[in-house]
Amino acid sequence: MKVPQLILAAAAAAVSLSAGAVTDLTLQTNKVGAPVQPTMYGIFFEDINYGADGGLYAEKIKNRSFEFPQAFMGWYTFGDVELKDDGPFERAPHYVRLGNPGHAHKWSGLENEGFFGVSVEKGEKYRFSVWARVPDGGTSKLRVELINPSHRENHQAIAKGEITVNSKEWKKYTLELTPEETLKEGKLRVFLGKPENTVDLEHVSLFPVDTWNGHENGMRKDLAQKLADLHPGVFRFPGGCIVEGTDLDSRYQWKNTVGPVENRPTNENRWHYTFDYRFFPDYYQSYGLGFYEYFLLSEEIGAEPLPILNVGLICQFQNDLDAQPSMDQIQPFIQDALDLIEFANGDETTTWGKVRADMGHPAPFNLKYLGIGNEQWDSIYPQHLEPFLAPIRQAYPDIKLVGSSGPDSEGEQFDFLWPEMTRLKADLVDEHFYRPESWFLAQGKRYDGYNRKGPKVFAGEYACHGKGKKWNHFNAALLEAAFMTGLERNADIVHMATYAPLFAHIDGWQWQPDMIWYDNLESWPTCSYYVQQLYSDNKGTNVLPLLDANKQPLTGGEGQNGLFASAVLDANTGEYIVKVANTGDQAQELNINFAGMKKKEGINGATVITLHSDNPDAENSRENPSLIVPKQEQIAIENAQNWTTEIPAKTFKVYRFHK
Ligand code: AHR
Repeated sequence: MKVPQLILAAAAAAVSLSAGAVTDLTLQTNKVGAPVQPTMYGIFFEDINYGADGGLYAEKIKNRSFEFPQAFMGWYTFGDVELKDDGPFERAPHYVRLGNPGHAHKWSGLENEGFFGVSVEKGEKYRFSVWARVPDGGTSKLRVELINPSHRENHQAIAKGEITVNSKEWKKYTLELTPEETLKEGKLRVFLGKPENTVDLEHVSLFPVDTWNGHENGMRKDLAQKLADLHPGVFRFPGGCIVEGTDLDSRYQWKNTVGPVENRPTNENRWHYTFDYRFFPDYYQSYGLGFYEYFLLSEEIGAEPLPILNVGLICQFQNDLDAQPSMDQIQPFIQDALDLIEFANGDETTTWGKVRADMGHPAPFNLKYLGIGNEQWDSIYPQHLEPFLAPIRQAYPDIKLVGSSGPDSEGEQFDFLWPEMTRLKADLVDEHFYRPESWFLAQGKRYDGYNRKGPKVFAGEYACHGKGKKWNHFNAALLEAAFMTGLERNADIVHMATYAPLFAHIDGWQWQPDMIWYDNLESWPTCSYYVQQLYSDNKGTNVLPLLDANKQPLTGGEGQNGLFASAVLDANTGEYIVKVANTGDQAQELNINFAGMKKKEGINGATVITLHSDNPDAENSRENPSLIVPKQEQIAIENAQNWTTEIPAKTFKVYRFHK
């Protein structure tokens, strides 16, 4: 066998080969194994850490419909301002009345503080809109300003305009504003600046015109783009704990999130407070991002939608057993599930298919998966789940149902729920594990012994954190990469995996680590983001066996020097893709034997992508967003069936070998 002549790119050539033992690996190129599902690497979205309102949802106005329990939360009012509750939108009935300010030097109006400020960028266009009427007839001139509160009071406006409200009937008015400066913590001011007729205002809104794909009720472009750039195969939404709710009233009810945005009721957000007792009094869900928007996003980023519905149980962390809904209250929850499938897939002649069509999407969303229950546990969960199954399966036999193994990665509840999910013939089981580095290091073989005949695995929420280090440091991402070799090797039963949580606002987070961080103007991906992206972009089509001299996969086991590896074939390009994580402190030499190729065949070059940091505690940040990013190089290999390389300490590498 010809020993390859290896031409390393400049960066790689500088790395000296270590004196450590060589790990011999055999890649069995002709033993094409299980398909890697297109859904394998996806994303999980929850409105936590100001992920929706104040995050992905591009709306800049907090409490735009005056529906928070304290109706003026987020607003500062001046002059003659009255709250009313018989507005035009049944499910959001509050509005404000601005009275005649009296004379030219008295104003009536209000200012909104936005989410950690109303942020705008110089020269960009913003669409202000408001529903308004002049209740006593005539006209009234409404003044609208974007203001910089740090400027002298009479020079605060950085953009302004006027709207003439000219009807006794409620109407939507819009105005485009173009600020003359970039501002992270601005405000929106709406007011009557001189004697005018009384005017009523409802649903005061401000969006950038330039949203993701230009949707009016749209998403922040930089954040949605980062999701698209992950090329996710599946999109799980809308949570998480918010599906369950703190109590029955605050559970997530998808029917409240569809139809005109003005008529979507505001809901409490369970992430008002955190497990470490921090309190966020102004965290509510406007439902401006609702199920229609989530389905649309799934479609636009090419991911299978996977909604999770309430199973008729409220958060079990926060409620005792006797507070849970009883079995005779379960029917409406089942109906919600059936109606949701109709909303997603029914044609325009169906009740819920028509709602979708009226919102602008006559074609079905082609829903294939549905999760029922988030992190439930104890016998009450299978009890509540069971009555959903027959009606859904009967009406929609092709829908795959996702059950849960509870909040723990192992242990009593996990061991109880998996057989229960098998008994109930769940198609997939959603496992969650937010665990420390030591756990991730020990889980390389987690799925090797799973029952191949039961439900498939959905690793639906996971993230690694260090002991006392709950941030997105490089080592956590490296261990996630190492762990994911085990997902990939077991692609016959692991069909989906989604890191969590997805988003975090730096000024308002409740949970970390998180995949993408942002402030009001900028966003920056973590190392974990890049790990997810590397897997997703290099998922290949079929698993290939990659074994050491003892015919074992590299799973960080004894004698394996902290190495984890997996391999796939990309049948579309003919490439072999090998992923290796060296989690140890020493560089490791690898010798890969490409077994099973035809005599005249050999490897002719590779694309190598490296994610590495000399400092395992380092992380990407607002100040240094690209500190740790994948680096790609091409290496030449000449018709080789054996190839030796070195994996530096604390490094994740993805090789795409070309024949
Ligand atoms: O991702 C944060 C929370 O973790 C989710 O809401 C919940 O499912 C889990 O406990």
